[in-house]
Formats: sequence, C-alpha cells, structure tokens
Amino acid sequence: MSVRSETELTQEIERLREALSAREREAAENERQLERYAADLRDTFKQERARAQELQRSYTATVSALSNAVEARDAYTGKHAERVAAYGMEIARTVGLPLAEMPELEFGFLLHDIGKVAIPDAILYKPEALTDEERALMQQHPLIGAEIVGRVGFLSGAVEVVRSHHERWDGAGYPDGLAGEDIPLAARVFAVADVLDALTTDRPYRPASTLEVAREMITVESGSQFDPRVVNAFNSLDDQVFQRIAAQIE
Ligand SMILES: [Fe+2]
Repeated sequence: MSVRSETELTQEIERLREALSAREREAAENERQLERYAADLRDTFKQERARAQELQRSYTATVSALSNAVEARDAYTGKHAERVAAYGMEIARTVGLPLAEMPELEFGFLLHDIGKVAIPDAILYKPEALTDEERALMQQHPLIGAEIVGRVGFLSGAVEVVRSHHERWDGAGYPDGLAGEDIPLAARVFAVADVLDALTTDRPYRPASTLEVAREMITVESGSQFDPRVVNAFNSLDDQVFQRIAAQIE
C-alpha cells in the first residue's frame, strides 16, 4: 500500500467519523424534539381530560337541579330520584350493563318523571282515585318526558329510560305496552330501583317496609312486573349497599 493511499484512507475514515457524529447529533436532536412533542401531547391530553370532567360535572349538576325542581312539586317523595339513581347504578353494574359507565343512564334515572311538569296539580295531588280520563292524562308523563329530554343533545341517551320507566316485564305497563326484552334494559333496571325506594320510604298512607320485606315483595313480582335477571342481580347485592345509599341520600 502506498503512503499516499494510506493518507487518503485516513482522511476517508476521518470524513466518515465526522459524518457519523453529525448524524448522531441530528438523531439526538430529533429525539429531543420528539420528547418535547410527547410532553406537549401529554399536557394537551391532561387539559382536555380536565375540561371533559368539568363539563361532565356541570351536566350532572344541571340534571340534578332539574330533577330536584321536578321533585319539589311532589312533596312526599323527597330525594326519591337521587336514591333511585344510586340504587339503579348499583343494580346496572351487577347486571353487567355497559351502560353503567354512561352518564346518560344516571341522567335517565334522575329525570324519569320530568314529564310530570305537564300534569296539572289537581291530578298530581288528587287524594281520591283518578277518573279514567285523568289516569290517561297522567299516563302521558313518560311520553311528555321523553319529548322534553329528547330535545337536549347530551340527554338523548336518557330518553329510553324516561319513556319506558312504567313498562312491565309482562307487557301490562304503559305507555307502549312493551314486554320482556323489548323493554330497554336500563328501564327494566329502573323499575326495580324505583319500587325498592318506594317501598323502603315512608308514605302518608303507610310506613316504610324493611329491606327484607321489600326484597320479598320485589322477588314475588319477578317474571310479572320485573325482569327476573334484574331481580337476581338486585338480590345478589348486599343489604349494606342499599343501606349506605339510603343513609347518604335522605
Ligand atoms: Fe313515572
């Protein structure tokens, strides 16, 4: 090998080394840039999540306020809707409803009787039995409620509970006379939660039943008023689950 070509080789190696370290610097800079992008993305994601949570809290507060306004007319029921919503969410989780993760479900439970705003006081508070005509009007409240709730974008998922909350598993309910699995599952869950709260709170005409008696009364109606699957889910939950909710929401 000549001296000249050896020098050339050394220069070539030197040139390659420089090129390599230039590439390495470039790669390191790219990596730093990527890390900055990733950090920015993480920040944006965190901010978005915080904003979404804040929005969700506002929705829930608005719906609760609306539900309380509806219930304020119905003096004896107190916080019925809030308790029913809490009972209903527990049962929904046990039935394995993916809906339990959806805020719309809770909104539907809270607003189930919103259609009663259109029912005159004379009918809503009538102590005697309703005439056929009055009953027909009263039974419009799920339809009126569905109409009200259906117009609000973020409440659209609540419509089926509001519309079908008086349906019965055996088809004898209203307003559509749906039976069995034609009734939305969320409304079937609601039916059990609703009766549970009605039975375990004092009413002017009768004292509250114990949870044990309420369980018996609900179980007797499994397959007639209620979906047996929902009743089983309800019965698989411990008393403490319901007692805790009842103590928290008085
Ligand atoms: Fe109702």
